[in-house]
Amino acid sequence: MANPSLLILAGDGIGPEVMAEVKKIIAWFGTRRGVTFDVSEDLVGGCAFDKYGTPLHDDTMAMAQAVDAVLLGAVGGPKYDKLDFSLKPERGLLRLRKEMDLYSNLRPAQCFDALADFSSLKKEVVAGLDIVIVRELTSGVYFGEPRGIFTEGNERVGINTQRYTESEIARVARSAFELARRRANKVCSMEKANVMESGILWREVVQEIHDKEYPDVDLSHMYADNGAMQLVRWPKQFDVIVTDNLFGDVLSDCAAMLTGSLGMLPSASLGAPMANGRPKALYEPVHGSAPDIAGQGKANPIACILSFAMALRYSFNMGDDATRVEKAVEKVLADGVRTADLMGPEGGKPVSTSQMGDAVIAALDASL
Ligand code: IPM
Ligand code: MG
Repeated sequence: MANPSLLILAGDGIGPEVMAEVKKIIAWFGTRRGVTFDVSEDLVGGCAFDKYGTPLHDDTMAMAQAVDAVLLGAVGGPKYDKLDFSLKPERGLLRLRKEMDLYSNLRPAQCFDALADFSSLKKEVVAGLDIVIVRELTSGVYFGEPRGIFTEGNERVGINTQRYTESEIARVARSAFELARRRANKVCSMEKANVMESGILWREVVQEIHDKEYPDVDLSHMYADNGAMQLVRWPKQFDVIVTDNLFGDVLSDCAAMLTGSLGMLPSASLGAPMANGRPKALYEPVHGSAPDIAGQGKANPIACILSFAMALRYSFNMGDDATRVEKAVEKVLADGVRTADLMGPEGGKPVSTSQMGDAVIAALDASL
């Protein structure tokens, strides 16, 4: 059987640094677990623009379509802020998501016990938190037409369109219900059905799919603004939250902060099943390229490492090994190993990006 294949797109800023630690773990799987990944590498974002004049080369796009999974670091940086919109680093990421049709974006927000003091919220509010936001990723206002900046009379007008078809809502709803069945069996769907027609349709379709196909799952609906408030008030009331592209973008940043550090959170973007029965998939940390600390060995590689763990679970049918990586991360944190972003007000000596990676490898060794 062919080796599992992986395309690594480390991208910009801290992307290459955090990805270097994941590569150590991939190598560890080769030597210690006898699982060899066929790894290819290419560019995305600003670095791709520097080399190819485009944030995502067509050849890179074709490679992404051909592999079992894509692992992405981060894109963007101040150097590219003035570029034309279509050439911005983010467009490379959006093209990958769109052309691979990765409609279901899983963003777990999990609070590690060792970091519960670290949240900006009270410990009892976040300790033990384990929720997943399922964000629709390929439609809605980020892609809807018409869009653009036009001139009307003597002034300009900026237009974006929120647009959802029934089938787009139905497929992400199914993805959320499937996930919930493997967890606490609870889904809360968020929209603004009080003011948006697309929200009314969203609510109706989610309810229909529930009633026809997933009546066993506990489904509730919430307006997204209330959802934001509930997330900071008492986040443990949720298990799986399903929502559209824009609300999911905002709510997932909010949920991420509950856990203490954005540097900890992975994500999976999943599409329709491929010939091997596994979904098309791209895995990436929720954090961005953090240009302010890039190249200094300060970045926390855990979100990228946990993104690889999600790849093991969702793309490579290696759920036990995914858990092994997650437990190794938990162990390292429990042992007090901290990158700079995890230093509390009491201070201490942070480890570097690569020391954090080495600590995870040591914990993996100990797990055998
Ligand atoms: C995210 C990011 C992206 C988005 C940007 C980088 C295009 O904020 O993944 O949440 O808006 O989707
Ligand atoms: Mg975002």
